[in-house]
Amino acid sequence: MKDSRIAQGGLVLLGCGKMGSAMLAGWLDSGLPATSVYVLDPNPSDWLRATGVHINVDVPSAPAVVLIAVKPQMMGEALPRLQAMGGGDTLFVSVAAGTTIAHFEAVLGAGTPIVRAMPNTPAAIGKGITAIVANPHVPAGGLDEADALLQAVGQVVRLDTEAQIDAVTGVSGSGPAYVFHMIECLAAAGEAQGLPADMAMQLAKATVAGAGVLAEQSGDAPSQLRVNVTSPNGTTQAGLKVLMDTAKGLPPLMQKTVAAAADRSRELANG
Ligand SMILES: NC(=O)c1ccc[n+]([C@@H]2O[C@H](COP(=O)([O-])OP(=O)(O)OC[C@H]3O[C@@H](n4cnc5c(N)ncnc54)[C@H](OP(=O)(O)O)[C@@H]3O)[C@@H](O)[C@H]2O)c1
Repeated sequence: MKDSRIAQGGLVLLGCGKMGSAMLAGWLDSGLPATSVYVLDPNPSDWLRATGVHINVDVPSAPAVVLIAVKPQMMGEALPRLQAMGGGDTLFVSVAAGTTIAHFEAVLGAGTPIVRAMPNTPAAIGKGITAIVANPHVPAGGLDEADALLQAVGQVVRLDTEAQIDAVTGVSGSGPAYVFHMIECLAAAGEAQGLPADMAMQLAKATVAGAGVLAEQSGDAPSQLRVNVTSPNGTTQAGLKVLMDTAKGLPPLMQKTVAAAADRSRELANG
């Protein structure tokens, strides 16, 4: 990133909380000069002050990129100050849940290049996954730029339509919370089978984390990995018979869970 268009033209980061800080840390690590970054945030953290980026000063009139990382409810207050940068070559990238491309176009001008992104919380440790979608005004290289910026906090996938953002929200956006709850349930079930609480929690956390890494690193599909550890008439098969029940097990429950989150995402986007 050292000699990129972003390093030269500047990057404005609007909102530097959890997600903004995680991204900024990744950009600086990958060589973006601190002097190319302009952060706007009412309460800069000590960490942010120590990075050497510009904080709450005048920003370039036409930066290469503006990255929006404020909470959706702060958008109405925060966005108008960026209005003058709309409609030109400045690429806007937003990670705010629920704020649509149409909303940004309405505030910033219809011809503004905008990329909407949906990250998730493991971004805080560089293990996130972010889905991105652009409006037609984003030039060919613009999506690559957004992709590179978001890779600072994990993997990136590209969507065909903005409508898919709701499904992404239901799967990977809200997904970490489902997995945390699975850890809670697995630990509670271990306790019910006679294990001390802290040991049951340690077993549950390590099992989910280890299985997750194995699923990512293995060349085998998760379904094959499952088959590999399921001996006929063994313990895993007995457990999976309950979990995989097509009427009362995880398949219908996960369908309903993701559908509820995606429906809520659609509702929020519609105001
Ligand atoms: N965290 C995630 O994993 C995650 C996942 C998906 C999407 N997102 C999206 O990412 C965005 C940021 O989330 P977050 O978790 O990083 O929230 P956060 O920690 O609350 O960060 C938001 C930051 O913006 C600042 N801010 C508030 N009003 C502002 C204004 N008018 N101008 C400039 N900065 C302002 C806040 O300052 P104060 O704290 O002083 O108000 C805070 O530092 C949200 O839109 C969220 O939907 C986050």
